[in-house]
Amino acid sequence: MQDHRAANHPDLLVGISTSDDAGVYRLAPHQALVQTVDFFTPVVDDPYQWGRIAAANALSDVYAMGGTPLTALQMIGWPRDQLDFALAGEVIAGGADVMAEAGCTIVGGHSIDDTEPKYGFAVTGLVSPERVISNAGARVGDRLVLTKPIGTGIIATAIKRQACPAGVIASAVEWMTTLNREAAQAMVEVGAGAATDVTGFGLLGHLGEIMAASGVGARLDSEAVPVIEGAWDLLDAGMYPGGSVRNLAAVQPLLDTGRGESRMARMLADAQTSGGLLIAVRPHRLEALLSALTAGGVDGVVIGEVVEGNSISW
Ligand code: CO
Ligand code: CO
Repeated sequence: MQDHRAANHPDLLVGISTSDDAGVYRLAPHQALVQTVDFFTPVVDDPYQWGRIAAANALSDVYAMGGTPLTALQMIGWPRDQLDFALAGEVIAGGADVMAEAGCTIVGGHSIDDTEPKYGFAVTGLVSPERVISNAGARVGDRLVLTKPIGTGIIATAIKRQACPAGVIASAVEWMTTLNREAAQAMVEVGAGAATDVTGFGLLGHLGEIMAASGVGARLDSEAVPVIEGAWDLLDAGMYPGGSVRNLAAVQPLLDTGRGESRMARMLADAQTSGGLLIAVRPHRLEALLSALTAGGVDGVVIGEVVEGNSISW
């Protein structure tokens, strides 16, 4: 989105210029709307689980800004001639269950006939303007914390090729349907510098967005980055989605020469669905953040730190 003409207003606190997860619009001195939209084609074969994943993923952009989801509008595209509409009912049930879990009210929606199934939500939440956590607040010295393992793009590709072990599918579904609510509560409570959720652009792409918006670089402890069990084997077996190939090409200018073709770079660039939060936190607040995450049942892993410059090294 390059045309910013309609994206200028004194109450627009976070717009499209920082590649943030959601827009933030001030309603009153201490109250702002957080708005986002997300929808995609199936990532798993089970329609109910796909609906759950789509809902958790759409809510995630509100959580990543430090907001609380309030209402959602549902969008569904369905090839009625080829696919029983009863299956769409299962997708919708999955979405509704996760929205209910999140305390987010579905207030309406829209469906169209489509060549390929698509499902997702536009979610509206609330946030105090002084507590908004955007991409732009990372500082040199901040530690980088990740709250879910990566590898879901590789796993989704293996599922499409019917080459994914059932246990790996089950654990990927478990991660993709886990809300980022508790992780977000912990970072809001402790105070984070910057945060985003790790989704389509992969860990490196979303880290690159934080770096660009904050004017910093990053050094990763690549071995510390958690990966869903089984994903490395699938990567080695050639399971790698087109989106991840594009992600890897897009981040090349940020990487040291020679680094970009490595197996690790491929994993770190893998396009995620409903991934965890990537949080930049001041070093003196790191321990407090990790304990708050643990208290919320979230396993936060330190995967690197913010450094000067504009490149990613490991
Ligand atoms: Co996002
Ligand atoms: Co999004």
